[in-house]
Amino acid sequence: MSSSDRVRLSVALVDVAPGHEGDFRALVAEFEAVLARKQYGRVDTIQDEAQPLRYYAVRHWADAEAAERCHADPDVQAITARLYQIARVAHVVNGARRVDPSTSAGVRPVRIEGDRRAGFDRRRMRGGSPTGTDRRGGKDRRTGRRRENDAGATVDLVAAARLAREHALAPFSKFKVGAALETFDGVVVTGCNVENATYGLTICAERVAMFKAISEGHRAFARIAIVADTREPTPPCGACRQILWEFGGNLEIQLANLESRTAMYRLQDLLPMPFDARLL
Ligand code: THU
Repeated sequence: MSSSDRVRLSVALVDVAPGHEGDFRALVAEFEAVLARKQYGRVDTIQDEAQPLRYYAVRHWADAEAAERCHADPDVQAITARLYQIARVAHVVNGARRVDPSTSAGVRPVRIEGDRRAGFDRRRMRGGSPTGTDRRGGKDRRTGRRRENDAGATVDLVAAARLAREHALAPFSKFKVGAALETFDGVVVTGCNVENATYGLTICAERVAMFKAISEGHRAFARIAIVADTREPTPPCGACRQILWEFGGNLEIQLANLESRTAMYRLQDLLPMPFDARLL
């Protein structure tokens, strides 16, 4: 395999909180040093010309395994944790193969590879509908613009959310929800809704998953699956959208029911004008 076949790119959008530009530059320098020292690859940090607090972090991994080792590296996780205190990070592309100039004119878009990260069995399950269902003709339009499903790459996360749902404690509403949150380095953390006799203390599945993950030290997230037993997939409530945004940024969200219905969104589509730390 030639080296250009093995190189992998990941791209993250980083919005730095005002006043933290110096901290961010220092973190970038530390990250560059770790990548070089441990031979994981290198990072190009590109500043957006129109929005000076926005950066594009393009990571060129030596190969897919180097990317996995880097995500699991405690030194890198410590840098990531500090980054999340001063910036909002959205993972735009993970695991794209670089265009090989010898086989294209250089205009073909990069192909997104199947998810190669470790930590959870990602064998694709066939049989159910792998693509999203079209809800636009349906009654419920609260969830806004739909995104195309990415050819079934997220089915296992839905399976984890369905299992988690079985633990739901919902004696009052009888509405059981399961969530499965995938961290950026491939760990899956699940949650279910837990109700309380003083109804207001009930906590949703999504927040349980996110708080569990945070309490276990995770700080970077890629996507979440949410499952309920409804005809059309159930969207996260407003409070959960806020929490998911706060800690997960522009997460990929897969909604599913107990059968084959799924729908994919980005959190930004569900929460178009978020309040967050940048406004404080
Ligand atoms: N619920 C969730 O777990 N997630 C949501 O996004 C919506 C609602 C739970 C809370 C409560 O236990 C039940 O569903 C009915 O609202």
